[in-house]
Amino acid sequence: MIEKSIALFNRAQQSIPGGVNSPVRAFKSVGGTPVFMKSAKGAYMFDADGNRYIDYINSWGPMILGHAYEPVVKAIQEYAQYSTSFGAPTELEIEMAELIISIAPNVDLIRMVSSGTEACMSAIRLARGYTGRNKIIKFEGCYHGHADSFLVKAGSGVATFNIQTVPGVTAGVANDTLTCAYNDLDAVKQLVAEHHNEIAAIIIEPVAGNMGCILPQEGFLEGLRAICDLQGIVFIMDEVMTGFRLAPGGAQERLKVNADLVTYGKVIGGGMPVGAFGGKKEIMQHISPLGNVYQAGTLSGNPLAMIAGYVMLKTLKENPSIYKHLEESTNYLRKGLDEVLKASGTPYVINQLGSMISIHFSEHPITNFSSAAAANNELFKKFFHAMLKRGVYLPPSAFETWFLCNALTREDLDMTIQKAKESLQEIL
Ligand SMILES: Cc1ncc(COP(=O)(O)O)c(C=O)c1O
Repeated sequence: MIEKSIALFNRAQQSIPGGVNSPVRAFKSVGGTPVFMKSAKGAYMFDADGNRYIDYINSWGPMILGHAYEPVVKAIQEYAQYSTSFGAPTELEIEMAELIISIAPNVDLIRMVSSGTEACMSAIRLARGYTGRNKIIKFEGCYHGHADSFLVKAGSGVATFNIQTVPGVTAGVANDTLTCAYNDLDAVKQLVAEHHNEIAAIIIEPVAGNMGCILPQEGFLEGLRAICDLQGIVFIMDEVMTGFRLAPGGAQERLKVNADLVTYGKVIGGGMPVGAFGGKKEIMQHISPLGNVYQAGTLSGNPLAMIAGYVMLKTLKENPSIYKHLEESTNYLRKGLDEVLKASGTPYVINQLGSMISIHFSEHPITNFSSAAAANNELFKKFFHAMLKRGVYLPPSAFETWFLCNALTREDLDMTIQKAKESLQEIL
Protein backbone atom coordinates (compact mmCIF):
# COMPACT_ATOMS: atom_id res chain seq x y z
CA MET A 1 0.00 0.00 0.00
CA ILE A 2 1.55 3.27 -1.08
CA GLU A 3 -1.58 5.44 -1.14
CA LYS A 4 0.05 8.39 0.59
CA SER A 5 3.01 8.28 -1.82
CA ILE A 6 0.59 8.27 -4.76
CA ALA A 7 -1.22 11.32 -3.36
CA LEU A 8 2.07 13.09 -2.61
CA PHE A 9 3.38 12.40 -6.12
CA ASN A 10 0.22 13.84 -7.67
CA ARG A 11 0.53 16.91 -5.46
CA ALA A 12 4.29 17.28 -6.08
CA GLN A 13 3.79 17.45 -9.82
CA GLN A 14 1.76 20.64 -9.45
CA SER A 15 4.69 22.57 -7.99
CA ILE A 16 7.94 20.69 -8.81
CA PRO A 17 9.00 19.73 -12.37
CA GLY A 18 8.12 16.05 -12.69
CA GLY A 19 7.38 15.99 -8.96
CA VAL A 20 11.03 15.53 -7.97
CA ASN A 21 14.18 17.56 -7.37
CA SER A 22 16.48 15.08 -9.16
CA PRO A 23 15.27 13.13 -12.21
CA VAL A 24 16.03 9.48 -11.36
CA ARG A 25 13.88 9.78 -8.22
CA ALA A 26 10.78 9.98 -10.43
CA PHE A 27 11.02 6.24 -11.26
CA LYS A 28 10.38 7.15 -14.91
CA SER A 29 12.70 4.50 -16.25
CA VAL A 30 11.23 1.72 -14.13
CA GLY A 31 7.67 3.02 -14.22
CA GLY A 32 5.28 3.29 -11.31
CA THR A 33 5.03 5.83 -8.52
CA PRO A 34 8.08 6.97 -6.59
CA VAL A 35 7.90 6.16 -2.91
CA PHE A 36 8.01 9.24 -0.69
CA MET A 37 10.20 8.80 2.36
CA LYS A 38 9.45 10.05 5.82
CA SER A 39 12.28 8.78 8.00
CA ALA A 40 15.19 6.40 8.03
CA LYS A 41 17.31 4.73 10.66
CA GLY A 42 20.32 2.46 10.15
CA ALA A 43 19.74 0.24 7.12
CA TYR A 44 16.02 1.00 6.82
CA MET A 45 13.91 3.69 5.21
CA PHE A 46 10.25 4.24 6.09
CA ASP A 47 7.85 5.73 3.56
CA ALA A 48 4.88 8.04 4.04
CA ASP A 49 2.55 5.03 4.35
CA GLY A 50 4.73 3.45 7.04
CA ASN A 51 6.27 0.72 4.84
CA ARG A 52 9.81 -0.33 5.72
CA TYR A 53 12.54 -0.85 3.10
CA ILE A 54 16.02 -2.30 3.38
CA ASP A 55 17.98 0.47 1.71
CA TYR A 56 20.54 -0.26 -1.02
CA ILE A 57 20.96 3.29 -2.29
CA ASN A 58 21.85 4.98 0.99
CA SER A 59 21.15 8.43 -0.42
CA TRP A 60 23.19 7.37 -3.48
CA GLY A 61 26.25 6.73 -1.34
CA PRO A 62 26.65 9.11 1.58
CA MET A 63 25.02 7.05 4.34
CA ILE A 64 27.87 4.54 4.59
CA LEU A 65 27.30 4.17 8.34
CA GLY A 66 23.53 3.91 7.97
CA HIS A 67 20.85 6.57 8.31
CA ALA A 68 20.64 8.97 11.24
CA TYR A 69 24.02 7.84 12.58
CA GLU A 70 23.82 9.16 16.10
CA PRO A 71 27.19 10.94 16.49
CA VAL A 72 26.55 12.82 13.22
CA VAL A 73 23.01 13.79 14.24
CA LYS A 74 24.17 14.98 17.67
CA ALA A 75 27.02 17.03 16.19
CA ILE A 76 24.65 18.75 13.75
CA GLN A 77 22.27 19.54 16.61
CA GLU A 78 25.06 20.99 18.70
CA TYR A 79 26.56 23.10 15.93
CA ALA A 80 23.19 24.44 14.71
CA GLN A 81 22.95 26.58 17.83
CA TYR A 82 26.20 28.43 16.97
CA SER A 83 24.74 29.59 13.60
CA THR A 84 23.92 27.72 10.42
CA SER A 85 26.30 29.83 8.31
CA PHE A 86 28.89 32.58 8.78
CA GLY A 87 30.27 33.36 5.31
CA ALA A 88 33.59 33.81 7.10
CA PRO A 89 36.31 31.24 7.82
CA THR A 90 36.08 28.86 10.80
CA GLU A 91 38.53 26.59 12.60
CA LEU A 92 36.30 23.67 11.72
CA GLU A 93 37.14 24.11 8.02
CA ILE A 94 40.85 23.75 8.83
CA GLU A 95 40.16 20.64 10.89
CA MET A 96 38.16 19.16 8.03
CA ALA A 97 40.90 19.95 5.49
CA GLU A 98 43.61 18.52 7.76
CA LEU A 99 41.57 15.37 8.36
CA ILE A 100 41.01 14.79 4.64
CA ILE A 101 44.68 15.40 3.87
CA SER A 102 45.61 12.86 6.56
CA ILE A 103 43.34 10.25 4.94
CA ALA A 104 43.45 10.85 1.18
CA PRO A 105 46.52 10.18 -0.97
CA ASN A 106 47.91 12.96 -3.18
CA VAL A 107 45.95 15.76 -1.56
CA ASP A 108 48.18 18.66 -0.48
CA LEU A 109 45.44 21.27 -0.63
CA ILE A 110 41.67 20.85 -0.63
CA ARG A 111 38.79 23.23 -1.38
CA MET A 112 35.28 22.54 -0.06
CA VAL A 113 32.21 23.08 -2.24
CA SER A 114 28.55 22.10 -1.88
CA SER A 115 28.09 19.21 -4.35
CA GLY A 116 29.91 16.66 -6.45
CA THR A 117 28.91 18.60 -9.56
CA GLU A 118 30.62 21.72 -8.28
CA ALA A 119 33.71 19.73 -7.35
CA CYS A 120 34.10 18.21 -10.83
CA MET A 121 33.22 21.43 -12.63
CA SER A 122 35.82 23.33 -10.61
CA ALA A 123 38.48 20.66 -11.08
CA ILE A 124 38.04 20.88 -14.85
CA ARG A 125 38.29 24.66 -14.81
CA LEU A 126 41.44 24.39 -12.72
CA ALA A 127 42.97 21.83 -15.09
CA ARG A 128 42.21 24.14 -18.02
CA GLY A 129 43.63 27.15 -16.23
CA TYR A 130 46.72 25.22 -15.20
CA THR A 131 47.50 23.71 -18.60
CA GLY A 132 46.21 26.50 -20.82
CA ARG A 133 44.37 23.84 -22.86
CA ASN A 134 40.63 23.53 -23.53
CA LYS A 135 39.65 19.94 -24.22
CA ILE A 136 38.90 17.17 -21.77
CA ILE A 137 38.46 13.43 -22.16
CA LYS A 138 35.68 11.66 -20.29
CA PHE A 139 34.34 8.14 -20.61
CA GLU A 140 30.97 7.05 -22.00
CA GLY A 141 28.60 6.24 -19.17
CA CYS A 142 30.61 8.07 -16.52
CA TYR A 143 28.74 10.80 -14.71
CA HIS A 144 30.53 13.75 -13.16
CA GLY A 145 27.52 15.86 -12.27
CA HIS A 146 25.39 18.08 -14.43
CA ALA A 147 27.82 20.85 -15.43
CA ASP A 148 27.63 21.47 -19.20
CA SER A 149 31.00 19.88 -20.02
CA PHE A 150 29.96 16.55 -18.55
CA LEU A 151 26.57 16.11 -20.23
CA VAL A 152 28.11 14.39 -23.20
CA LYS A 153 27.55 10.62 -23.27
CA ALA A 154 26.95 10.75 -19.53
CA GLY A 155 25.75 7.93 -17.29
CA SER A 156 23.29 8.00 -14.38
CA GLY A 157 20.02 9.84 -15.16
CA VAL A 158 21.23 10.94 -18.60
CA ALA A 159 21.68 7.27 -19.53
CA THR A 160 18.55 6.20 -17.67
CA PHE A 161 16.45 8.57 -19.77
CA ASN A 162 18.42 7.78 -22.94
CA ILE A 163 19.20 11.45 -23.56
CA GLN A 164 21.66 11.67 -26.47
CA THR A 165 22.32 15.41 -26.58
CA VAL A 166 21.24 17.73 -23.82
CA PRO A 167 19.40 20.86 -24.99
CA GLY A 168 21.03 23.90 -23.40
CA VAL A 169 24.57 22.60 -23.74
CA THR A 170 26.17 24.64 -26.52
CA ALA A 171 28.03 22.97 -29.37
CA GLY A 172 31.17 24.87 -28.35
CA VAL A 173 31.14 23.30 -24.90
CA ALA A 174 30.24 19.86 -26.23
CA ASN A 175 33.06 20.04 -28.79
CA ASP A 176 35.59 20.44 -26.02
CA THR A 177 34.46 17.18 -24.39
CA LEU A 178 35.97 14.15 -26.11
CA THR A 179 34.71 10.70 -25.16
CA CYS A 180 36.03 7.15 -25.20
CA ALA A 181 34.59 3.83 -24.15
CA TYR A 182 35.42 2.86 -20.55
CA ASN A 183 38.30 0.39 -20.41
CA ASP A 184 39.47 1.22 -23.95
CA LEU A 185 43.01 2.46 -23.52
CA ASP A 186 43.81 2.33 -27.25
CA ALA A 187 40.95 4.72 -27.98
CA VAL A 188 42.37 7.16 -25.45
CA LYS A 189 45.83 6.91 -27.00
CA GLN A 190 44.35 7.63 -30.42
CA LEU A 191 42.38 10.65 -29.19
CA VAL A 192 45.40 12.06 -27.42
CA ALA A 193 47.48 11.65 -30.59
CA GLU A 194 44.77 13.35 -32.68
CA HIS A 195 44.59 16.28 -30.26
CA HIS A 196 48.22 16.75 -29.43
CA ASN A 197 48.76 19.47 -26.80
CA GLU A 198 45.02 20.27 -26.68
CA ILE A 199 43.89 18.10 -23.79
CA ALA A 200 43.80 19.65 -20.35
CA ALA A 201 42.43 16.71 -18.38
CA ILE A 202 41.29 13.13 -18.38
CA ILE A 203 38.48 12.67 -15.86
CA ILE A 204 37.27 9.24 -14.82
CA GLU A 205 35.26 7.38 -12.23
CA PRO A 206 38.00 4.95 -11.11
CA VAL A 207 35.25 2.43 -10.44
CA ALA A 208 32.23 3.47 -12.44
CA GLY A 209 28.93 3.57 -10.59
CA ASN A 210 26.72 5.40 -13.05
CA MET A 211 26.14 2.60 -15.56
CA GLY A 212 25.68 0.06 -12.81
CA CYS A 213 28.94 -0.90 -11.17
CA ILE A 214 31.78 -1.34 -13.68
CA LEU A 215 35.35 -2.13 -12.72
CA PRO A 216 38.46 -0.83 -14.45
CA GLN A 217 40.27 -3.67 -16.19
CA GLU A 218 43.82 -4.46 -15.20
CA GLY A 219 46.21 -1.81 -16.42
CA PHE A 220 43.52 0.64 -17.57
CA LEU A 221 43.93 3.28 -14.87
CA GLU A 222 47.68 2.78 -14.83
CA GLY A 223 47.68 3.28 -18.61
CA LEU A 224 45.74 6.54 -18.26
CA ARG A 225 48.19 7.68 -15.58
CA ALA A 226 51.10 7.00 -17.95
CA ILE A 227 49.45 8.87 -20.85
CA CYS A 228 48.83 11.87 -18.59
CA ASP A 229 52.46 11.86 -17.41
CA LEU A 230 53.73 11.68 -20.95
CA GLN A 231 51.47 14.39 -22.35
CA GLY A 232 51.26 16.85 -19.44
CA ILE A 233 47.56 16.09 -19.00
CA VAL A 234 45.94 16.49 -15.58
CA PHE A 235 44.59 13.14 -14.36
CA ILE A 236 41.38 13.72 -12.41
CA MET A 237 39.95 10.84 -10.45
CA ASP A 238 36.29 11.51 -9.67
CA GLU A 239 35.98 9.86 -6.28
CA VAL A 240 32.54 11.30 -5.53
CA MET A 241 31.24 7.73 -5.20
CA THR A 242 34.41 5.81 -4.38
CA GLY A 243 36.02 8.31 -2.00
CA PHE A 244 36.04 7.12 1.64
CA ARG A 245 33.93 4.15 0.46
CA LEU A 246 36.27 1.68 -1.23
CA ALA A 247 38.91 2.42 1.40
CA PRO A 248 39.57 5.41 3.65
CA GLY A 249 41.75 6.77 0.83
CA GLY A 250 39.17 5.76 -1.80
CA ALA A 251 40.04 4.20 -5.13
CA GLN A 252 43.48 5.81 -5.14
CA GLU A 253 44.36 3.73 -2.07
CA ARG A 254 42.43 0.63 -3.04
CA LEU A 255 43.67 0.44 -6.63
CA LYS A 256 47.05 2.04 -6.01
CA VAL A 257 46.82 4.63 -8.75
CA ASN A 258 47.75 8.26 -8.18
CA ALA A 259 45.66 11.20 -9.32
CA ASP A 260 46.73 14.79 -9.93
CA LEU A 261 43.35 16.10 -8.82
CA VAL A 262 40.62 14.25 -6.92
CA THR A 263 36.97 15.17 -6.53
CA TYR A 264 34.82 14.15 -3.60
CA GLY A 265 31.15 14.28 -2.64
CA LYS A 266 28.61 11.98 -0.98
CA VAL A 267 30.37 10.32 2.03
CA ILE A 268 32.51 13.43 2.61
CA GLY A 269 29.43 15.32 3.84
CA GLY A 270 27.84 12.67 6.03
CA GLY A 271 24.54 13.29 4.21
CA MET A 272 24.83 17.08 4.10
CA PRO A 273 25.41 18.93 0.78
CA VAL A 274 29.19 18.78 0.46
CA GLY A 275 31.76 18.25 -2.26
CA ALA A 276 35.46 18.96 -2.47
CA PHE A 277 38.32 18.99 -4.92
CA GLY A 278 41.93 18.69 -4.00
CA GLY A 279 45.29 17.57 -5.21
CA LYS A 280 48.88 18.47 -5.73
CA LYS A 281 49.98 21.87 -4.49
CA GLU A 282 51.56 22.71 -7.82
CA ILE A 283 48.11 22.59 -9.43
CA MET A 284 45.88 23.63 -6.51
CA GLN A 285 47.82 26.85 -5.96
CA HIS A 286 46.28 28.20 -9.17
CA ILE A 287 42.88 28.44 -7.45
CA SER A 288 41.83 31.89 -6.26
CA PRO A 289 42.73 33.68 -4.05
CA LEU A 290 46.17 31.99 -4.31
CA GLY A 291 46.03 31.98 -8.09
CA ASN A 292 43.65 33.43 -10.65
CA VAL A 293 41.45 30.45 -11.56
CA TYR A 294 38.26 31.72 -9.97
CA GLN A 295 36.06 29.53 -7.81
CA ALA A 296 33.82 30.47 -4.88
CA GLY A 297 30.69 29.59 -2.88
CA THR A 298 28.42 31.39 -0.38
CA LEU A 299 27.83 28.18 1.57
CA SER A 300 31.18 26.47 0.89
CA GLY A 301 32.57 25.07 4.14
CA ASN A 302 29.18 25.50 5.79
CA PRO A 303 29.54 24.68 9.50
CA LEU A 304 26.73 22.11 9.68
CA ALA A 305 27.99 20.38 6.55
CA MET A 306 31.55 20.44 7.89
CA ILE A 307 30.72 18.97 11.27
CA ALA A 308 28.60 16.20 9.75
CA GLY A 309 31.37 15.29 7.33
CA TYR A 310 34.08 15.63 9.95
CA VAL A 311 32.39 13.24 12.37
CA MET A 312 31.71 10.77 9.59
CA LEU A 313 35.27 10.81 8.22
CA LYS A 314 36.84 10.64 11.67
CA THR A 315 34.72 7.60 12.48
CA LEU A 316 35.84 5.95 9.24
CA LYS A 317 39.49 6.84 9.82
CA GLU A 318 39.53 5.51 13.38
CA ASN A 319 37.63 2.29 12.66
CA PRO A 320 39.19 0.40 9.74
CA SER A 321 37.06 -2.60 10.77
CA ILE A 322 34.10 -0.78 9.17
CA TYR A 323 35.61 -1.42 5.73
CA LYS A 324 36.20 -5.07 6.58
CA HIS A 325 32.60 -5.43 7.70
CA LEU A 326 31.25 -3.64 4.61
CA GLU A 327 33.30 -5.88 2.38
CA GLU A 328 32.18 -9.05 4.18
CA SER A 329 28.54 -7.97 3.97
CA THR A 330 28.83 -7.24 0.25
CA ASN A 331 30.65 -10.52 -0.45
CA TYR A 332 27.92 -12.36 1.47
CA LEU A 333 25.18 -10.60 -0.51
CA ARG A 334 26.98 -11.29 -3.76
CA LYS A 335 27.31 -14.99 -2.97
CA GLY A 336 23.63 -15.25 -2.04
CA LEU A 337 22.47 -13.36 -5.13
CA ASP A 338 24.78 -15.44 -7.27
CA GLU A 339 23.12 -18.63 -6.02
CA VAL A 340 19.54 -17.47 -6.57
CA LEU A 341 20.31 -15.97 -9.97
CA LYS A 342 22.11 -19.12 -11.08
CA ALA A 343 19.17 -21.24 -9.95
CA SER A 344 16.75 -18.99 -11.86
CA GLY A 345 18.45 -19.82 -15.17
CA THR A 346 18.42 -16.21 -16.41
CA PRO A 347 21.71 -14.78 -17.74
CA TYR A 348 23.24 -12.29 -15.33
CA VAL A 349 26.42 -10.49 -14.39
CA ILE A 350 27.27 -9.27 -10.91
CA ASN A 351 29.98 -6.61 -10.75
CA GLN A 352 31.35 -5.69 -7.35
CA LEU A 353 34.18 -3.94 -5.63
CA GLY A 354 34.06 -3.29 -1.89
CA SER A 355 30.57 -2.12 -0.96
CA MET A 356 29.58 -1.16 -4.53
CA ILE A 357 27.69 -3.87 -6.39
CA SER A 358 25.16 -4.23 -9.20
CA ILE A 359 23.33 -6.82 -11.27
CA HIS A 360 22.97 -6.64 -15.03
CA PHE A 361 20.81 -9.22 -16.77
CA SER A 362 23.28 -10.06 -19.51
CA GLU A 363 25.03 -13.02 -21.13
CA HIS A 364 28.16 -10.95 -21.69
CA PRO A 365 30.60 -9.29 -19.31
CA ILE A 366 29.67 -5.70 -18.46
CA THR A 367 32.80 -3.64 -19.01
CA ASN A 368 31.57 -0.38 -20.52
CA PHE A 369 28.47 1.62 -21.36
CA SER A 370 27.51 -0.25 -24.52
CA SER A 371 27.57 -3.62 -22.78
CA ALA A 372 25.51 -2.15 -19.90
CA ALA A 373 23.00 -0.66 -22.35
CA ALA A 374 22.73 -3.96 -24.24
CA ALA A 375 21.70 -5.85 -21.08
CA ASN A 376 18.08 -6.83 -20.50
CA ASN A 377 17.06 -3.66 -18.71
CA GLU A 378 13.35 -4.48 -19.13
CA LEU A 379 13.95 -7.41 -16.83
CA PHE A 380 15.76 -5.13 -14.39
CA LYS A 381 12.65 -2.94 -14.17
CA LYS A 382 10.53 -5.94 -13.25
CA PHE A 383 13.13 -7.06 -10.73
CA PHE A 384 13.25 -3.59 -9.20
CA HIS A 385 9.47 -3.49 -8.66
CA ALA A 386 9.29 -7.06 -7.39
CA MET A 387 11.98 -6.22 -4.82
CA LEU A 388 10.38 -2.88 -3.89
CA LYS A 389 7.05 -4.42 -3.12
CA ARG A 390 8.86 -6.94 -0.91
CA GLY A 391 10.54 -4.16 1.06
CA VAL A 392 13.94 -3.94 -0.64
CA TYR A 393 14.85 -0.55 -2.09
CA LEU A 394 17.26 -0.86 -5.03
CA PRO A 395 18.32 2.02 -7.30
CA PRO A 396 15.43 2.64 -9.71
CA SER A 397 17.64 2.13 -12.77
CA ALA A 398 20.06 -0.49 -14.07
CA PHE A 399 22.46 2.39 -14.72
CA GLU A 400 23.22 2.92 -11.05
CA THR A 401 25.36 1.03 -8.58
CA TRP A 402 23.95 -0.23 -5.28
CA PHE A 403 25.63 0.96 -2.10
CA LEU A 404 25.75 -1.05 1.11
CA CYS A 405 25.88 0.51 4.55
CA ASN A 406 27.52 -0.69 7.71
CA ALA A 407 24.21 -0.99 9.58
CA LEU A 408 23.08 -3.99 7.49
CA THR A 409 22.83 -7.18 9.54
CA ARG A 410 23.18 -10.79 8.39
CA GLU A 411 19.39 -11.06 8.77
CA ASP A 412 18.89 -8.09 6.43
CA LEU A 413 21.17 -9.68 3.86
CA ASP A 414 19.46 -13.07 4.18
CA MET A 415 16.10 -11.39 3.78
CA THR A 416 17.34 -9.53 0.67
CA ILE A 417 18.57 -12.79 -0.88
CA GLN A 418 15.27 -14.51 -0.05
CA LYS A 419 13.31 -11.60 -1.58
CA ALA A 420 15.50 -11.77 -4.68
CA LYS A 421 14.66 -15.46 -5.01
CA GLU A 422 10.92 -14.76 -4.68
CA SER A 423 11.17 -11.81 -7.08
CA LEU A 424 12.91 -13.87 -9.75
CA GLN A 425 10.28 -16.60 -9.39
CA GLU A 426 7.57 -13.97 -9.91
CA ILE A 427 9.06 -12.23 -12.93
CA LEU A 428 10.66 -15.03 -14.95
C1 LIG B 1 30.92 9.94 -9.81
C2 LIG B 1 30.06 11.15 -9.59
N1 LIG B 1 30.56 12.38 -9.79
C3 LIG B 1 29.83 13.48 -9.58
C4 LIG B 1 28.52 13.41 -9.17
C5 LIG B 1 27.73 14.64 -8.94
O1 LIG B 1 27.51 14.84 -7.58
P1 LIG B 1 26.27 15.69 -7.06
O2 LIG B 1 25.04 14.92 -7.38
O3 LIG B 1 26.54 15.84 -5.59
O4 LIG B 1 26.32 17.00 -7.75
C6 LIG B 1 27.95 12.15 -8.97
C7 LIG B 1 26.55 12.03 -8.54
O5 LIG B 1 25.97 11.00 -8.49
C8 LIG B 1 28.74 10.99 -9.19
O6 LIG B 1 28.23 9.77 -9.01
